Amino acid sequence: MTDRYAVIGNPISHSKSPLIHKMFAQQTAQDIRYEAIEAPLDNFAGKVYELITQGYRGCNVTVPFKFEAFKLATELSDRAQAAQAVNTLRFNGDGIFGDNTDGAGLVTDITHNLNCELSNKRVLLVGAGGAAWGVLLPLLNEVPQRLVIANRTVAKAEEAAQTLLSGFTEHISHSTEFVARGFSDLVDEEFDVVINATSAGLTDSEIPLPPTLFAPRALAYDMMYGRETPFMKFARTHGAAVVADGLGMLVEQAAEAFYLWRGVRPDTRAVLEQLRGTKC
Ligand code: ATR
Repeated sequence: MTDRYAVIGNPISHSKSPLIHKMFAQQTAQDIRYEAIEAPLDNFAGKVYELITQGYRGCNVTVPFKFEAFKLATELSDRAQAAQAVNTLRFNGDGIFGDNTDGAGLVTDITHNLNCELSNKRVLLVGAGGAAWGVLLPLLNEVPQRLVIANRTVAKAEEAAQTLLSGFTEHISHSTEFVARGFSDLVDEEFDVVINATSAGLTDSEIPLPPTLFAPRALAYDMMYGRETPFMKFARTHGAAVVADGLGMLVEQAAEAFYLWRGVRPDTRAVLEQLRGTKC
């Protein structure tokens, strides 16, 4: 019997996840169906229970329900616990397992697809909202030399760092300096990898970062995809050697979810090439 999965969000019609999972399923000969489902803003849990009753095996969760999914899960992975958000649910029969594959997706895109090791590098994560929380633990697991989380509202960056440092000490290597900063504190620093996890690109806003941030051969990575953001333009103008958008992260987080559900890893490179080629 065909196993059913879905992505739940609101709005959801723009989602590329059904196309990505269809390609994964064809490629790996997995008999699954995957669809996009809009849940009412005030009844995410009701929609999930409905899917469970109908025999679905799991779902992805996107904006604005990742925190509700975190609360709904009866069991959580470490990375979901650290993120305080869930983007993948697996229905286990008697329970709901919640995971967060966003950070793994980001790390795989950077290290495999863009061939940029994070270990021993100076890494800047810009932003301290949900998107940033989602990737902190997987970034720390790569053991960078220094990980700075910087945010317009410094207190939020400090809270994120403090939460990780107090709750996940055993995941953080002693050789990583992990600190929170405001943008103006970054004037004397250079980074090998700068990741934009803010939502500034959604409104085409500039982020007031110092132009001296990028070390020679630096990678600038925007977690948004679909168009050149002001951050990407800024990075090109101020010396980043490689500038990437977040389409690879989208495909890699989907692959990680597919692996969690099916135990099979799809070939993401072929899917990413197809998505870029067809500009879906
Ligand atoms: P998301 O779930 O996408 O992370 P969020 O939780 O609302 O959304 O967080 C948005 C992030 O983008 C925050 O870090 C926010 O900074 P503040 O905490 O200071 O609000 C950041 N952000 C949004 N617009 C920005 C801008 N124009 N410049 C700098 N940071 C911006």
